[in-house]
Amino acid sequence: MSNLVIYYSRRGQNYVNGSIRNLAKGNAEIITEYIRNTVDADIFEVDTVKPYDKDYMVCIEEAKAELRAKARPELKEMLSDISRYDNIFVVGPNWWGVYPMAMYTQLEALDFTGKTVHYVVTHEGSGLGGVPKTMKDACKGAKIGASLAVQGGSAPGSEKQVADWAAKAVK
Ligand SMILES: Cc1cc2nc3c(=O)[nH]c(=O)nc-3n(C[C@H](O)[C@H](O)[C@H](O)COP(=O)(O)O)c2cc1C
Repeated sequence: MSNLVIYYSRRGQNYVNGSIRNLAKGNAEIITEYIRNTVDADIFEVDTVKPYDKDYMVCIEEAKAELRAKARPELKEMLSDISRYDNIFVVGPNWWGVYPMAMYTQLEALDFTGKTVHYVVTHEGSGLGGVPKTMKDACKGAKIGASLAVQGGSAPGSEKQVADWAAKAVK
């Protein structure tokens, strides 16, 4: 079985446990490493050509505008072929209820026929939010597998939870 993690994560200013903190490593990035340590996966990071503002409060407004516009921001690099993988893990934050629009830029460009998609959402209280509703359309042809919501502040201590979840997902 061959596994891939596609992730988006925002380093720097983020909202954690009720206050704005500076994260050296994003929460979804931490989860991605735990998954890779467990299931031996290749990693692909979704990153936008135009960076979001470093200021958290500005970034949330940028993200809201993108969501309203159903924007599909341009990515620095796009994956075009996932044919060699069996399981695709999608990992990213809850931004206004769904993944950042950039995640959908990538997911919608891929053919998931015959693949199983498992996904993790990091969040500050909204859990999986509306992400489950978006996955079937975003991942054309995929079988949608397991999901997991991890509150951002708990991400650094979630290794066992994530490892158990990922191991079960690919069984
Ligand atoms: C633009 C933006 C919008 C967000 N919207 C929500 C939200 O609607 N609900 C929620 O629970 N958390 C929200 N958050 C918090 C993130 O989901 C949370 O901090 C997550 O752990 C970030 O993961 P990351 O460090 O991998 O980017 C938002 C954060 C940002 C930057």
